[in-house]
Amino acid sequence: MRIAILGLGNMGRGLATRLAGKAELRLGTRDVDGAADFARALPGDVAVADYHGAAEAADIVILALPYEAALAEAGANTALAGKPVIDITNPLKADYSGLTIGFSSSAAEEIQKAAPGAKIVKAFNTIFADLLTKPVEETAHFQVFVAGDDAVAVERAIEVVGLSGFAAEKTGPLETARYVEALGMLNIRLGYFEGRGQGIAPAWSAIAA
Ligand SMILES: NC(=O)c1ccc[n+]([C@@H]2O[C@H](COP(=O)([O-])OP(=O)(O)OC[C@H]3O[C@@H](n4cnc5c(N)ncnc54)[C@H](OP(=O)(O)O)[C@@H]3O)[C@@H](O)[C@H]2O)c1
Repeated sequence: MRIAILGLGNMGRGLATRLAGKAELRLGTRDVDGAADFARALPGDVAVADYHGAAEAADIVILALPYEAALAEAGANTALAGKPVIDITNPLKADYSGLTIGFSSSAAEEIQKAAPGAKIVKAFNTIFADLLTKPVEETAHFQVFVAGDDAVAVERAIEVVGLSGFAAEKTGPLETARYVEALGMLNIRLGYFEGRGQGIAPAWSAIAA
């Protein structure tokens, strides 16, 4: 599998570190030269390009960008058409006090509208970047909630979740992202405002049937 990661911030670099050596990586960044040392230090087949070049070279794309930038990129990047595209965004207010969108739409649905040819899948928005820096054994049971309309794209995203060292939890169609994003907000509330830190993540449990 060849995965493009667009945006090399905390999440982009963390996901690249988790996925390097397990899939071919095409890292998309606004600063290709500045990312060279990071890419060189990763194992396996890793190359750096601009956002369009990285997406064009990949089978599946992760948008690791702030929501507004992800929306703009979805509208502009023609290489996303026909591909599974994982949206990891939390559409946060600038002061982290809440979401800028919800109830009647979600970041994922808006990104889908901006890139109608892409197959948007929501995932990873409830996983703090800190978790990506921990040993895989410590996070393998952490759930990544996955929502999407295209069954094949959802399965590809679930493969990426597995390769990154987490457990995928399928939640339903892309519309479900409205609730998955609200869950991400609750996680941020607990982590940042209620003192739980960034080593937490929400999980679904069940008693034995
Ligand atoms: N941090 C977390 O714990 C966490 C957890 C779950 C979900 N998320 C979501 O994941 C996404 C990325 O978060 P992050 O923490 O990785 O953010 P970040 O550290 O700020 O990195 C975002 C990256 O996006 C690119 N970018 C493109 N346009 C930008 C713009 N206008 N302003 C800022 N950056 C821009 C930059 O990469 P290049 O310079 O390489 O192009 C930048 O490094 C966000 O949507 C966030 O809500 C974050």
